[in-house]
Amino acid sequence: MRMVDAIEKKRDGGELSDEEIRWIIQGYTAGSIPDYQMSAFAMAVYFCGMSGRETAAMTNAMSHSGETMDLSRFGNLSVDKHSTGGVGDKTTLIVAPVVAALGGKVAKMTGRGLGFTGGTADKLESIPGFQTALPIDAFLKQVEAIGIAVVTQSADLAPADKKLYALRDVTATVESIPLIASSIMSKKLAAGARSIVLDVTVGSGAFCKTMDRAEALANEMIGIGRASGRRVAAVITDMDVPLGHAIGNALEVQEAIRVLRGEPCPDLRAVCTELAATMLSLCHGWELAQSREKVSATISGGAALNKFKEWIARQGGDTRCVDDFSLFPQPSCSRDILSPQAGCIAAMDTEHVGAICVSLGAGRAKKDDTIDPAAGIYLHKKTGDFVQKGEHIATLFATKSDGFQEAESALLQALTWSTSALEPHPLIYKTLQ
Ligand code: URA
Repeated sequence: MRMVDAIEKKRDGGELSDEEIRWIIQGYTAGSIPDYQMSAFAMAVYFCGMSGRETAAMTNAMSHSGETMDLSRFGNLSVDKHSTGGVGDKTTLIVAPVVAALGGKVAKMTGRGLGFTGGTADKLESIPGFQTALPIDAFLKQVEAIGIAVVTQSADLAPADKKLYALRDVTATVESIPLIASSIMSKKLAAGARSIVLDVTVGSGAFCKTMDRAEALANEMIGIGRASGRRVAAVITDMDVPLGHAIGNALEVQEAIRVLRGEPCPDLRAVCTELAATMLSLCHGWELAQSREKVSATISGGAALNKFKEWIARQGGDTRCVDDFSLFPQPSCSRDILSPQAGCIAAMDTEHVGAICVSLGAGRAKKDDTIDPAAGIYLHKKTGDFVQKGEHIATLFATKSDGFQEAESALLQALTWSTSALEPHPLIYKTLQ
């Protein structure tokens, strides 16, 4: 087989066999296929697409390119979730202990944030003492004992995807549905859970800006999961507005704790309820309505918060934080942003809001940047809210105040105003199974 022939076949709209795809992925991982040929291949896929069979074969080959986690000891109870990303998305911190409190086994590998979206590992590390790196044995023992462990990738999962994703990033080939779907699903399949819930976000703060793309991505990922014998569902959720009010690592953990305590945060609670209920209905076979009720009772009865504390303690975190937020890293500076006008906030460019947070130190522009766990933004007002002139819209937090002036102007520019009330956006567009 020659790579040039495979590139030509794809370029001309042909369909590659499973064997050809396996050969490409193995060759690229081993280094016998060079970056320049793989770049040409990725560009050919970008323009010509891939059939469902080709995408499933590519995912399969990438998921077997390194280690795979064996979660068979948990039977049907192992369940994972993946979000395609967003701003203020702290759902894992709530959903994982809720599902574990209701008998699911959440053995989750998670990543760090890059660009305008945050990462769960960074959020967890804002809890003093919390360890995100665990040896595989300890990781599995913890899941066996308490139903939950969340770690940074400790096994060498899907190295082919790691290499290809980095290449796509610098060759303008990230935005291809089959390449995104195979990239995400190769890691999820290698991570081993029997059931997988995909939170596919859509809107100005999401990877997918339109519903058509979100649905296409969701369907592609469901097809891949099914072909590999997993139970998969996708929930398409709104990310046209940041989720909750807090953006930034320690701020988001605090907001998650508030939701676990049963304090009001309607949008975040609604999305978490749907995700947790969908996970539980996949792993236990419960009806969705019954799952939602159980999720609600687990939060109101305190079991979810207790599970969260147990989880934090097992991974070395200081559980006193749960009752005393002053134990989280504290920002040295803050600035209140006041509204320059009266009116209704009609829209918020959420990707822009995420980028402002990065500029305050809460995220990374480059992979090796260090982050400030205390930095971030608290939004007092969001899309759809009426605001008086001079009223608080947001508070900025950082270690240095140098960036506040620029951040304030950028935040005000991210807002669109209206004089009349707006129809609220749905939070959950649809669930695809
Ligand atoms: N996230 C991934 O893991 N892969 C992609 O290709 C895009 C988003």
